[in-house]
Amino acid sequence: MTAPEAPTHATTDGLWRWLVGGLIGGGILLGLLVAAYAIGYDRGRHHAPTTPANAATSARPATAVPTSSATAQATLGAVPVTAALVARGQQLYTSDGCSGCHSLTGAPGAGPSLEGLATSTVKLVDGQTVTADDAYIERAITDPDAQIVDGYRAGIMPAAIASLALAGKPDDVRALVAFIKSRK
Ligand code: HEC
Repeated sequence: MTAPEAPTHATTDGLWRWLVGGLIGGGILLGLLVAAYAIGYDRGRHHAPTTPANAATSARPATAVPTSSATAQATLGAVPVTAALVARGQQLYTSDGCSGCHSLTGAPGAGPSLEGLATSTVKLVDGQTVTADDAYIERAITDPDAQIVDGYRAGIMPAAIASLALAGKPDDVRALVAFIKSRK
């Protein structure tokens, strides 16, 4: 936009100042929104949104927020099959009552046999198939109803092991996973 005359120039200057001011203002506002969203999102992972700022940001695109993946995430990572862990796991397999429902012979009981489970392909009731890696086995123990093995029912294992509160005993879970992996 070029304007040779002074009065028009002044008007153009004013317009530019307004435009640039608007851009900077908009940029700052956007930055604040993004920051508020990031903070709100981080808080939202631990607490229900309480402040108006959080409430506003949590109403933003739900697709950008991973919902229940927190419970589905593996917490232990890869579990080594050491002699000590396997021995401890074998002990727990009996003392925690796993043996009452899970055989080590391949024969199904109230639950599937744990023999040969590790790294095998497991069919779930929803028709999906998953590989029984460390994360799967861990979740099968700490959150049994997250994925239900085909041919079995939800609720049976959780009811039986609820009092063990295994989700809060990562060392026990690690030992059980190591033991199950040793039965490959
Ligand atoms: C009252 C019976 C019962 C007890 C006790 C029990 N479970 Fe289970 N378990 C089940 C049933 C039923 C399933 C299949 C349904 C499902 O996928 O949750 C299952 C599934 C599993 C699976 C997935 C098996 C597969 O083939 O994918 C693992 C691993 C497992 N249990 C480990 C354990 C461990 C370790 C313990 C002991 C701490 C235990 N369970 C105690 C009944 C039981």
